[in-house]
This record gives sequence, C-alpha cells and structure tokens, in this order.
Amino acid sequence: MEIGTSKIAKVAGLNIHYTDALGTGGWDFGLDFLDLFAQKGWKAGRAFEMCCGPGYIGFALLAHNLCDTLCLADINPVAVEVCKRTIAENGLSDRVSVYLSDGLADIPSHEKWDVVVGNPPQYAQSGAREKRIGKAIKFELHERIWLDEDWHIHRDLYSGVGKHLMKGANIAIMEARLGSDENDFIELIRDGGLEYVARLPCKGDRRFYYVHSRLPE
Ligand SMILES: C[S@@+](CC[C@H](N)C(=O)[O-])C[C@H]1O[C@@H](n2cnc3c(N)ncnc32)[C@H](O)[C@@H]1O
Repeated sequence: MEIGTSKIAKVAGLNIHYTDALGTGGWDFGLDFLDLFAQKGWKAGRAFEMCCGPGYIGFALLAHNLCDTLCLADINPVAVEVCKRTIAENGLSDRVSVYLSDGLADIPSHEKWDVVVGNPPQYAQSGAREKRIGKAIKFELHERIWLDEDWHIHRDLYSGVGKHLMKGANIAIMEARLGSDENDFIELIRDGGLEYVARLPCKGDRRFYYVHSRLPE
C-alpha cells in the first residue's frame, strides 16, 4: 500500500513515522505511559500495544528499554504501513512485529505478552453529548479513532487477551474521563478471567486515566 509522506516524531533516538490523520494522541498524552512504567517498576520482555496507530506508545517503551520486544496491531492498514516504515528505518525487524487485525482476531496464537498497553477509541457512542465534547477535542478525526460502539473493542480485548498473556501480565489501558469510568470495564475484565487491579491517574494529562488489570499468577 502506498501511504505517501509521513512525519517523524523522535523519541530517545528512535524515529516514529506518523500522519496527522492517524491521530496524535499517543504522542500528545500517551507518553505518560513512560511515567506509569517508572512508578510501577514495570519492565517487560514482550509488550503489546493494542489499537496502536503509529505505535507512539509501544515504540517509546522500546526506545526507553521498558520492553525488549514489541507487538503492535491496528485495524487501519495505513497505521500498519506507517509502523512498518518505522520498523524498517530503525532496523527493528528482529524486535517488533505489527499485525493488521480487527481487535485480536488476526493475532497469531504464538504471540505472548508480559504487558499490554493501549490508547484505544474511548467513547462508546456518538450522540449529541459526544459531538459537543468533540468540538473541543479534535473529533474531526475519523470515528475509528474515537468510537468504540457499545465497547466492542474493549470487550474483544478483555475476553480474548488471556490466551496471549504470560502469568502475572499487566494490562494498562488509557481511557478518557469524559468517555467512561472504570465501572464500564470491571465486569468485562472479570468475565475474561482477569483481575481488576485499580483505576490509576494519568498524571501528565488529567483528561485521562488508566484501567489496570492483570492475569493472576
Ligand atoms: C485513539 S486512536 C489511538 C492511536 C494510537 N494508539 C495513539 O495513541 O495515538 C485509536 C486507534 O484504534 C484503532 N482501531 C479502531 N478500531 C479498531 C479495531 N476494531 N481493532 C483494532 N484497532 C482499531 C484506530 O485505527 C486507531 O489507530
């Protein structure tokens, strides 16, 4: 696929390719994950970034040695091609895999992760309220960037991720305070055989918070 010109975001010596249409949330506020990992003392063998877009969060974790290898996935072929550009330019083909996948549907069964991160679509409906919010926060972007109708992407994650997790693996998903609270996800987490751990603050940007869950040891 020809994706045309991309821009570059630099993090710790790594050039991350992106386009504006893919969204820049992971760059604007998603790098707060670096602080979260520092606070928690997390260092992963293999990390997975769900709904990765250009992979800002995952590539930043890799660049800061907070994971050894990285798995990325997104439903948008343009996002996948941009990630491939980053992998090729930075010589990361032995450490990073990227999949075109609707949720976890096309992730190979051999993929196993110690930590899962993500800044997925954060609103479950597109009503008048969301349109009002959207005027303030860049909802002119394609709705696949922000709309997770009836939380089906989150449901897919929490119901299917267990088979890809190492025992004790942590899952930290960034959510919008205007789009949800942790109670929207706790049942989905438990139904997936996972343990809900806590709601955590996103200290770098108070519009967001994290839902922390894990696969018990
Ligand atoms: C809020 S954007 C975040 C992108 C990137 N993670 C970031 O932090 O900038 C949400 C991403 O979810 C992807 N997405 C939407 N629906 C999806 C699905 N069913 N499966 C996988 N990815 C999906 C979109 O293509 C988009 O890249």
